Amino acid sequence: MEAGEKVICALDLEEPETAWAMVESLEGIISFYKVGMLLFLTGGNEMVQRLIGRGHRVFLDLKFYDVPDTVAAAVRRAASLGVNFLTVHGNKEILERAGEAAAGTALKVLGVTVLTSLDRTDIGELGFPCRVEELVLQRAQWALEAGCAGVVASPQEAALLRRELGPELLLVTPGIRPAGGDLGTHKRAATPAQALQAGADYLVIGQPIIRAEDPRAAAARIIEEMSL
Ligand code: C5P
Repeated sequence: MEAGEKVICALDLEEPETAWAMVESLEGIISFYKVGMLLFLTGGNEMVQRLIGRGHRVFLDLKFYDVPDTVAAAVRRAASLGVNFLTVHGNKEILERAGEAAAGTALKVLGVTVLTSLDRTDIGELGFPCRVEELVLQRAQWALEAGCAGVVASPQEAALLRRELGPELLLVTPGIRPAGGDLGTHKRAATPAQALQAGADYLVIGQPIIRAEDPRAAAARIIEEMSL
């Protein structure tokens, strides 16, 4: 796989037309887009279908968390739309039902481990009195055992997950900042090259591209940096 194919651009833009202009400006460089709750609330399925229609891959990042029947039905719906990656949160049963619903389709279900904006104090507040790495590993193990394709985790846990869970795990990492870049709200981040070296399969990159003065040039620089 070429370096550029490993970048998933997070289209965290509110206006569908602004998002579409971004996609057009990145044509030929980026072909995988993450649609999160912000864009989904305004662009909805139409945006997802437009991206797929243009030949792009779509990561629908709505972090499904609901009773297993509802999650399974929503996963089936996303699979029928042609979505490639989708995030699910929850216990083993929720993850299992999501994995089952995607079986036999091109959709890969990813378990959410621990958001990159959380550190040990934050997860303690949520009721997990352990190190972030322990919770990430535990949740990734459950996701794999439940039949999910992989997980979303910070690049700081990528090496641990690769070592403990092997090459089959599909590992997608946000929290990517080019060397010297502003970390924003990420508490657990790394550069593109570090994330890849640690074993990430795909890098989710939003602000460093979509907020750049020249998004196309920024994306090209990041892709170049990935090969260093
Ligand atoms: O910061 P950036 O736009 O590159 O983030 C990419 C994605 O990472 C976001 O769309 C969001 O889903 C996720 N994120 C996160 N924790 C943060 C900030 C963003 O997990 N602190």
